[in-house]
Amino acid sequence: MPARSSQPDTPELGIGMVGYAFMGAAHSRAWATVAQAFDVPLRPRMAALAGRDGAATRAAAHRFGWRHAETDWRTLIGRDDVQLVDICTPGDTHAEIAIAALDAGKHVLCEKPLANTLAEAEAMADAAARAARHGVRAMVGFNYRRVPAVALARRLIMAGRIGTLRHVRASYLQDWLADAAVPLTWRLQRERAGSGALGDIGAHAIDLAQYLSGEPLTGVSGLLATFVTERPRPGAAPAGEPAGEKTTGPVTVDDAALFTGRLPSGAVALFEATRFAAGRKNALTIELNGELGSLAFDLERLNELSFYDRTEGETTAGFRRILVTEPDHPYLEAWWPPGHLLGWEHTFVNQARDLLTDIAAGTDPEPSFGDGLRVQRVLAAVADSAAHGSAWTKI
Ligand SMILES: NC(=O)c1ccc[n+]([C@@H]2O[C@H](COP(=O)([O-])OP(=O)(O)OC[C@H]3O[C@@H](n4cnc5c(N)ncnc54)[C@H](O)[C@@H]3O)[C@@H](O)[C@H]2O)c1
Repeated sequence: MPARSSQPDTPELGIGMVGYAFMGAAHSRAWATVAQAFDVPLRPRMAALAGRDGAATRAAAHRFGWRHAETDWRTLIGRDDVQLVDICTPGDTHAEIAIAALDAGKHVLCEKPLANTLAEAEAMADAAARAARHGVRAMVGFNYRRVPAVALARRLIMAGRIGTLRHVRASYLQDWLADAAVPLTWRLQRERAGSGALGDIGAHAIDLAQYLSGEPLTGVSGLLATFVTERPRPGAAPAGEPAGEKTTGPVTVDDAALFTGRLPSGAVALFEATRFAAGRKNALTIELNGELGSLAFDLERLNELSFYDRTEGETTAGFRRILVTEPDHPYLEAWWPPGHLLGWEHTFVNQARDLLTDIAAGTDPEPSFGDGLRVQRVLAAVADSAAHGSAWTKI
């Protein structure tokens, strides 16, 4: 039996992380607690954190529990005490860091979307395939696969409980850009983010649709819109401009993305992603309708899964709310007693558990860089379709 985290001789795996803001905080907490929650076969050692600003990176390393701070991700990759590189930076850096790490024989966890362009994603998937031949593993951080209710939905679908799939309906709605005064951060710049709502949050909906159905989209028709085309630049006025004067810059990504799609089985899919849905904070919903029933999930009620079983008599059939907190539900064996709810943060702990388990077992983790590439193909096809009057675009 392999060593487990509850045993003193469990081998360690040195982690090096790049980026320490939003995702950096969430991933740090996951690395710090995964061996407490789960009996993992490798104990993560939070070796080093990389950022660009020395003082800020040292402060973040101290706060989150990283032993060392580096100001260049290349140095981080080269460290002997780092065996896994965790990429929590904007999309324009993913390909370069991930490929360098994989080529150096380091396992990689890379945040989503995998890349900013299809060419980058293809190069990353190639690098992951090369590395896998030497036992080096790569995973992309579509963490919503690790919500227990989502994993249960997948289990029920794969067991045939909703039968032949007819519809997938997914939307990811937020509202943090509804105010036109929100500044022009990297998420609103194509060269840094690749796309807007489409790649930022639509990518999650696409990954869930492909994961839950077990089918890649074969074609799409898309519509993109940018509602606020100029926003104030964050921080000080650029050199040469009067201090204190408000300057603006162009928004170069979509604010909203809508598209339809087809799956190889004949099922049809409908997607919407926006950061302008006033009142919708983090509303990722997905519903799948099959010949035998339906499943529906809402991230803002993430401990629940709705299930309609058409094989029941019509007299009593109805959507039932499954509280996904039982010990035999996915991931729940490690958490709290039934009814003691989990949250968004737990998805990153579950993700870390799965990655450590795969590395120790020598198996390829999911979602793989190949899965990330399959999402990227959809993102590219939607953008292409939208640029050509919503023309049907094959994937
Ligand atoms: N899985 C999820 O639910 C989820 C949620 C939010 C963001 N993300 C993804 O995570 C990634 C990071 O997003 P975020 O929200 O944490 O962004 P953020 O702006 O909060 O943090 C980005 C971090 O990267 C650092 N950084 C930027 N360029 C760098 C460089 N060249 N070298 C070193 N460090 C650099 C910044 O200093 C900062 O620490 C993106 O790919 C994003 O799409 C995923």
